[in-house]
Amino acid sequence: MCGIVGYIGKEEAAPILLDGLEKLEYRGYDSAGIAVYNGTDIKITKTKGRLKFLAEATNEGLSMPGTLGIGHTRWATHGAPSDINSHPHANESGTIAVVHNGIIENYLFLKDYLMKKGYNFVSDTDTEVVAHLLDHYVKKYGEILEAVVHLMNRVEGSYALGIIVKENPDEIIAVRKDSPLIVGLSPEGNFIASDIPAILKYTRDIYLLEDREIVRLSRDGVTVYDVFKEPIIKEITHIDWDITAAEKGGYEHFMFKEILEQPKALKDTISPRIHNGEVVIEEMKMTDEEIKNLKKIYIVACGSAYHAGAVGKYVIEDMARIPVEIDIASEFRYRNPIFEKDSLAIIISQSGETADTLAALREAKKNGVKTLAIVNVVGSSIARDADNVLYTWAGPEIAVATTKAYSTQVSALYLIGLLFAKKRGTIEDSLYKETVKELVSLPDKVASLLKDFDKIQNFAAKKQNAKDIFFLGRGVDYATALEGSLKLKEISYIHSEAYAAGELKHGTISLIEEGTLVVSLATQENLFNKMLSNIKEVRTRGAVIMAIALEGNTEIEKEADFVLYVPKVLGNLAPSLSVIPLQLFSYYIAVGKGCDVDKPRNLAKSVTVE
Ligand code: AGP
Repeated sequence: MCGIVGYIGKEEAAPILLDGLEKLEYRGYDSAGIAVYNGTDIKITKTKGRLKFLAEATNEGLSMPGTLGIGHTRWATHGAPSDINSHPHANESGTIAVVHNGIIENYLFLKDYLMKKGYNFVSDTDTEVVAHLLDHYVKKYGEILEAVVHLMNRVEGSYALGIIVKENPDEIIAVRKDSPLIVGLSPEGNFIASDIPAILKYTRDIYLLEDREIVRLSRDGVTVYDVFKEPIIKEITHIDWDITAAEKGGYEHFMFKEILEQPKALKDTISPRIHNGEVVIEEMKMTDEEIKNLKKIYIVACGSAYHAGAVGKYVIEDMARIPVEIDIASEFRYRNPIFEKDSLAIIISQSGETADTLAALREAKKNGVKTLAIVNVVGSSIARDADNVLYTWAGPEIAVATTKAYSTQVSALYLIGLLFAKKRGTIEDSLYKETVKELVSLPDKVASLLKDFDKIQNFAAKKQNAKDIFFLGRGVDYATALEGSLKLKEISYIHSEAYAAGELKHGTISLIEEGTLVVSLATQENLFNKMLSNIKEVRTRGAVIMAIALEGNTEIEKEADFVLYVPKVLGNLAPSLSVIPLQLFSYYIAVGKGCDVDKPRNLAKSVTVE
């Protein structure tokens, strides 16, 4: 999605803006631009394409002197990627420049209103409306803060805005609603940014802006206002990520680094919630009574987060005996869902900013359903809107294709399933204890899978030219197959489908031909024989079988061409292990094909628009 950076301070702004935008590249974009006040005017340079074109056009920022500026990377929503549609956008006299992340939903109405007042538009974007509307209100009300308040009353949709005004060369104004924005504080200057990596090099002290908070940054201070222009006292959040945590750390790709970080991410997510062998989720503000009375759980998310939810459905139903309904957020929010009393909506999102997932959360809340968010980004919109938040401590996840965040989402669902099962008395104490013990052992078991990559790397090398790859599984293996298939598609661009193994013969098996690769997950001991017969079905039709099985299961070798073993583990916890070889398999195929692994085409790390 779009990335915003702003700086006001003692240093030259342009190089800082370019550096910050570079740290936001992972959000996905198609153009970039910066606006800098040079002492007399606001200068804007913006280009379609990668950030390097902007750096070249501004001689690494040196051709744009000034210590006040805003920058933007754009992921097109309204108006094709082009120089003129890039941000920043300005009013006609060039006295106001604005960068925007989000969607102005009523921009056509506002554009029509402004054109009738004589304003001329040069771009196809929704954002340009903001520049002219601010111009209109500044002329009407005389100052930018008042103009912003009036703009907020007129604009519908989502926005994080960074604004500089020629007449006010000693401040940046910013405001957010439904799109993320943070403020960075330092003695050398103050910052706005869409995300922490953009400014971590300069400061660790930030304000997390709430919706509809307006902020005024000057060289030596920051003031936050509410919509009545009343100052608000904000708490400083200190970010303790080390800088390398948001950098590649020497690996070729963020994705590989993040695959390797999974043992730590799992440990950081699980351990703080295990006290003396018991699952304790302090963030869960539900009473024992409420947990015992739970009649239904909705799990709502998008993409891989939805696949984590699919694991959660099997595990929570099996352990806690509560009916779980899983939904893709973009469907849930519009299907007029039926909400039951005594229910819980679990909303899963790495970024905490996915528009459909945020809307689904609000739909559940609006209907009086208690909400629990499983989120990776502290202070994100979904985290702040939910009644309860269970943070996945995976650290910053930069690669567009999620790995460690997905794994920690799954572990969070195990924790919830165990907690609820214990409170509801639906799990034998011995099984509860054994499951908790195995949960605690997962980080080490995952680490054991990350020691030797040769076998999977060699097999992946032979599959780079595959046209179609199928993933099969039963039970939680089917949920993992969904995730394995998405990983492959999104980074290697190879078509793939995941199927409940028992479903294949109801149509799709007709696609199996000589040499078709079928990845078969066979970790569920109670379903193994069924899975084996499904493997035989496709094998007799010419399929090549790559199997994922538990260590010690030699029977699978009779039917599989290639077997990757994972450490023995209780069936419900197998997804945390079986997903690892699938991540590596997809990674190596994508690298072998020369794909842009960290920033796959057409994709963004966080889809903050519908
Ligand atoms: C996963 O690899 C994808 N990048 C995508 O499916 C992602 O999981 C989905 O967009 C949801 O994002 P979120 O977890 O930030 O809400």
